[in-house]
Amino acid sequence: MTHKINFDKVKSNLSISGQLRVIGQPMLSKKSAQIHSSPVRDLLKYSKEPGFISLAGGIPATDMIDVEGIDKVIHQLLSEEHRALFQYSVTEGESVLREAIAQWSQGYGVVFNSQELLITNGSQQGIDLLNRVFLEKDDIVLVERPTYLAALQLFNYTDARIEEFDYQGESIDLVALESKLAAGGVKMLYLIPNFANPTGRIIDDTLRVEIVKLAHKYQVVIVEDDPYGHLSFIDTQRRTFFTIAQELYGEDHTVCYMSSFSKIFSPGLRLGWLAMPKRFLMALTVVKQASDLHTSTLNQAIAARYITSGRIDERIALLKQTYRERRDALIAALERHLAGKITYNIPDGGMFLWCHLNQGVDASQLLAACIEEKVVFVPGAVFFAQDPEANALRLSYSMLGQQSADQAAERIARALDKIS
Ligand SMILES: Cc1ncc(COP(=O)(O)O)c(C=O)c1O
Repeated sequence: MTHKINFDKVKSNLSISGQLRVIGQPMLSKKSAQIHSSPVRDLLKYSKEPGFISLAGGIPATDMIDVEGIDKVIHQLLSEEHRALFQYSVTEGESVLREAIAQWSQGYGVVFNSQELLITNGSQQGIDLLNRVFLEKDDIVLVERPTYLAALQLFNYTDARIEEFDYQGESIDLVALESKLAAGGVKMLYLIPNFANPTGRIIDDTLRVEIVKLAHKYQVVIVEDDPYGHLSFIDTQRRTFFTIAQELYGEDHTVCYMSSFSKIFSPGLRLGWLAMPKRFLMALTVVKQASDLHTSTLNQAIAARYITSGRIDERIALLKQTYRERRDALIAALERHLAGKITYNIPDGGMFLWCHLNQGVDASQLLAACIEEKVVFVPGAVFFAQDPEANALRLSYSMLGQQSADQAAERIARALDKIS
């Protein structure tokens, strides 16, 4: 018997995009329907418009990407037997890259077992995988106040609850932190230990030890997100939470460490690494496999060769010098044009100045006026999980030369005059 298909009925059940529509039901999941585009992502479009100066993107300087070094490495790779570079790879990551990272990290005082590293598509994927593996409905994830916007967005995708923990000035309030952990329900502590996004803050060594001990006592996973640690303007080397935890508790510790090639090599290659206690490796590998099978084989080979060629350390030294100069240029420009109207931290590394306008001045309102003046930054409110500070803003100096820093501050000052 042949079935006759009623095409009109089928068509009426299809939306314009050709997907099946159940009449009366929205297509997006509840979570997706609530999600808004990232304000930072939206602002990035201005960085490409002619005449605009952007202090918005948390992106490394395009003029500092070592294109000669990358060209050289690619040429070398392609002049060798390279069929395998275009083939599928293993989920954990290419062993040549895992070994190169483990070896090279020793120079930064971090000891990884290459077998316990997972190569990721940037740290962003690391956060995503950790969320999926650890967080369940109503688990609490504790975050610094303020913290990285895209981590907040990812936590929002889970059914976990985001809570901020307290700082006493620049230092974490350990007593308050312990009482939150003791109250139960906290599954994860998300920390950006070095030159944090957005604050430029560093968590000091003594605090690191105490926090590791607390996390172990209450069996909370520490997610140590460290994309800026290599970009220190001062000589002090800090021990990672990961290293401290390994020393204190061996394989029984609860710290997952992430870093990335985005700020020190190339964000476009989308490469990061995730180190964890061995007992978590299987779960994280399986969830990555389900998500994307593996990270680009070719890109991993490029990064591995770039590290073993020794060029990465030369580039990092150059980046540190350049960013330090750019930080100083922006500070000088703020002093010239905005003295008495803005306060800021002076970070010892990384890419951000965390600023406050005088009480009562709203940074979002200032941004609207700044767009007319062709300068953009990120209003600080987006980095808070609760009770945003309306007068806060993040200024990124990584992309600014001396002249553009001066122009940016001058334009912000003009915009501020308009709204005052
Ligand atoms: C704190 C923090 N974590 C993670 C990321 C994501 O970096 P990646 O390019 O490695 O995914 C960023 C990027 O700005 C960041 O600031």
